[in-house]
Amino acid sequence: MESERWLRSHGCAELTTAHAGSEVVLGGWVHRRRDHGGIIFIDLRDRSGLVQLVFNPAVNPGAHGVAVCLRGEYVVGARGLVTLRPAEMINPGLPTGAIELYPEAITIHNPAKTPPIYIEPDSQVDEAVRLRYRYVDLRRPDMQWRLAMRHRVVKAIRDYLDEHAFLEIETPQLTRSTPEGARDFLVPSRVYPGRFFALPQSPQLFKQLLMVGGLERYFQIARCFRDEDQRGDRQPEFTQLDLEMSFTSEATLFALLEGMFDHVYRTALGTGVRTPFTRLPWAEAMRRYGTDKPDLRFSMGLVDVSAAAAAGGFRVMQATVAGGGGVFGLVAPGCAGWSRKEIDGLVDRARELGAQGLAWLAVGEGEVRSPIAKFYTAAQLQDLLEALEARPGDLCLLAAGQGYAPCKVLGALRCELGEKLGLAQGPDAFVWVTEFPLFERDEAEGRLNPAHHPFTAPHPEDEGLIEADPLRVRSRAFDLVLNGVELCSGSIRIHRRELQERVFSAIGLPPDEARAKFGFLLEAFEYGTPPHGGVGFGLDRIVMLMARVDTIREVIAFPKTTTANCLLTGAPAVVDPKQLEELELKTGGRA
Ligand code: AMO
Repeated sequence: MESERWLRSHGCAELTTAHAGSEVVLGGWVHRRRDHGGIIFIDLRDRSGLVQLVFNPAVNPGAHGVAVCLRGEYVVGARGLVTLRPAEMINPGLPTGAIELYPEAITIHNPAKTPPIYIEPDSQVDEAVRLRYRYVDLRRPDMQWRLAMRHRVVKAIRDYLDEHAFLEIETPQLTRSTPEGARDFLVPSRVYPGRFFALPQSPQLFKQLLMVGGLERYFQIARCFRDEDQRGDRQPEFTQLDLEMSFTSEATLFALLEGMFDHVYRTALGTGVRTPFTRLPWAEAMRRYGTDKPDLRFSMGLVDVSAAAAAGGFRVMQATVAGGGGVFGLVAPGCAGWSRKEIDGLVDRARELGAQGLAWLAVGEGEVRSPIAKFYTAAQLQDLLEALEARPGDLCLLAAGQGYAPCKVLGALRCELGEKLGLAQGPDAFVWVTEFPLFERDEAEGRLNPAHHPFTAPHPEDEGLIEADPLRVRSRAFDLVLNGVELCSGSIRIHRRELQERVFSAIGLPPDEARAKFGFLLEAFEYGTPPHGGVGFGLDRIVMLMARVDTIREVIAFPKTTTANCLLTGAPAVVDPKQLEELELKTGGRA
């Protein structure tokens, strides 16, 4: 066993000129090694940073003899006196650049093979290599900074919620299926062959039961599991800040959570956020931005120009409006000079997004270049431009269709143009999107689905429509969106059995099936349930946006790949046939 004196007295980058003359013991990784005519310089790295070690055969010959053998990423211990560097050797680019250490002794704790990844902030290495050798990748300063920031975010959340009387309570991982819209990961029961636990897609039902249980304010940094298609901002297991509160309204939750974000940003990044956040009813978000996740760092809102567009002789637009649809416009500032080819590119993109077509008007000084101008008189064209609020230099894009279909196409173009024109930047833009519909139609299966989850309360004014006109029922569900990314979903919940049963029945869950799946919840609603509501935040996404990286894999120590496997451990993996036998499972011969 190494003696205690070989472990560590200081972190490398904790040393300052104030330590000059004192003996210290450092432990860390060989970051860089330079050999200058017999004198060896080593940058020693630990989590705190770097410090230079110097080995001179004339000054510390014993240690020099060991230093000759050192290579990148060896883990070493070094003991010696902190020395001031001569004035001309000071490195202003390094926090410890005014000092160095001439180790009297050095020990090799563990040698290292040549690492597959350079330990540099923006090492351009294939992600598969980074994930395969994650333990090396984690040594990179940007990974360490992000994980340290994640820690500060979680700590700030805990402190803030503790101050506000929330209790952190754990809920089971081995449980029954919770309906959050994804497939469950199942865990076979050995004790009850043929039966399965489901890993929770979220702690939704348990947190509601905690409210029935009188805990009043609950939160949890909860691991959630969803077997769904992977995209950049999704993982099969991810972390939620899960929260529930009794006797609350949307307004109380919003104020509490805005305060939490301000505290978290202040603690983890040094500057707070501007509150209150913007609030936008869902229908308006769809109409103005064509999405329920609007990026409000830039305006470029969509405008309904149905009347002005249908006034001319353009059949497509006339027919769409006459048939109950609409024509919407998007104005791209300063793009009137785009070439035909560039504009055709936008038209093609709109078709890819499902539009029938995309009309455009390039507005010059006193003239308009457009394939549809011929359908309008000068006065009608003027009205159309006024409806669009277009100015010379603008490129106006028009899409026609039923419902929100034209808005969705223009909304997607708006985001792409926002990126391309460099508008999607600047201060963080938080927005609460409220009053989501309670149900949505599953086009493929032709039935109603809950737009959020079936425990969401309907808007009190629309309760009477649940059976008569379900698609018009607004809900008390909301999302928090940051720069176009959904950070959380939440809602005020149903807390009466009779209303819960009506919603189950509207989504096609007959009473006996509802009782079989959610009987425990329905029963709990008969034992005194307070009104309650809450949210689930994607913690990985919050940290991703705060760290200004593109995927949540960058803020998770050991993430899965986009194809849902772990390159480090090789999971998922085959198991011993004996284990399958015990569980009475067969794999159909597939490994
Ligand atoms: P929801 O399903 O919208 O709501 O999830 C809440 C938030 O969790 C994040 N999220 C994910 N992050 C990474 N990988 C995933 N696969 C993934 N799926 C979701 C998102 C999302 O906004 N129980 C409800 C919340 C509630 O009503 O209280 C729920 O889980 O940021």
